[in-house]
Amino acid sequence: MSTDLYAVAGNPVAHSQSPFIHASFAAQCGQDLVYERLLCPLDGFKTSIEAFVARGGRGCNVTVPFKFEAFALATRHSTRAELAGAVNTLRFDANGWWGDNTDGLGLVHDIEHNAARPLAGRDILLLGAGGASAGVLGSLIHARPARIVLANRTADKALALQASHADWAAQHQVALQVCELSDVEANAVLGFDVLVNGTSASLSGAGVPVQGQVLKPGALALDMMYGAAALPFLDWARAQGALPRDGLGMLVEQAAEAFHIWRGVRPETAPVLSALRERLAQT
Ligand code: ATR
Repeated sequence: MSTDLYAVAGNPVAHSQSPFIHASFAAQCGQDLVYERLLCPLDGFKTSIEAFVARGGRGCNVTVPFKFEAFALATRHSTRAELAGAVNTLRFDANGWWGDNTDGLGLVHDIEHNAARPLAGRDILLLGAGGASAGVLGSLIHARPARIVLANRTADKALALQASHADWAAQHQVALQVCELSDVEANAVLGFDVLVNGTSASLSGAGVPVQGQVLKPGALALDMMYGAAALPFLDWARAQGALPRDGLGMLVEQAAEAFHIWRGVRPETAPVLSALRERLAQT
């Protein structure tokens, strides 16, 4: 029997930490597999994945910019992938291409277990209404907070996300509200327990697009980015007296969920997260 083959598919993928994470999981769980980087041409995602499957590929993680295309190509989807309209995990088997999205569950695991902040009954502020926020909103709702306020610079995008998640939110008795970024402070009379930054504002050096007064004392403030891109946000969170957190824990947790989908076993994430932090600190 040949060794099972997996990959992270994207463009670019050279920076991806997924090969390190999955090799660590495989070693820990005694799973015989190879995990590679699959650089797909921007106009050649489907062809690249088909060739990968023909080589024996059993599954892959999908990253920027192909998560929407992966959703379109999958023959079956999980509910959370349908809510996100995007797929970050594909599994190839006799029944076709299974598309799932583990980003949101990864975020919720990281907040509830690694940061020890249960979300049930809490007030969450989610900044941004692009791909990153769409990928996690369904799982945030599933954690049954009391309220999620979606704030975005462009109101229409937040309204669209609210509409696509309205039934899911009602089913989980979560108040899903929308406001413009400029109005967040007015909506934060009592403050939020958790702030999740899903905007790409830091990439353009724009800083954190809200005031510290939106946070309750001791709130958790998490940026889905990690590395240098997250540093200004973490500094800001610390200055507000919040518990700062970057997206590295979410990265490892979403990978663990993908590993479970492929291999049926759930790895321990804590040792891999600390090894990854050490590894990144050295680069
Ligand atoms: P991603 O896939 O990383 O989410 P995206 O889909 O392009 O990328 O979404 C980027 C998000 O960051 C959007 O919510 C965007 O706001 P708009 O919808 O108004 O464009 C938000 N964003 C980017 N730069 C920002 C800035 N300087 N201030 C506030 N929000 C910003």
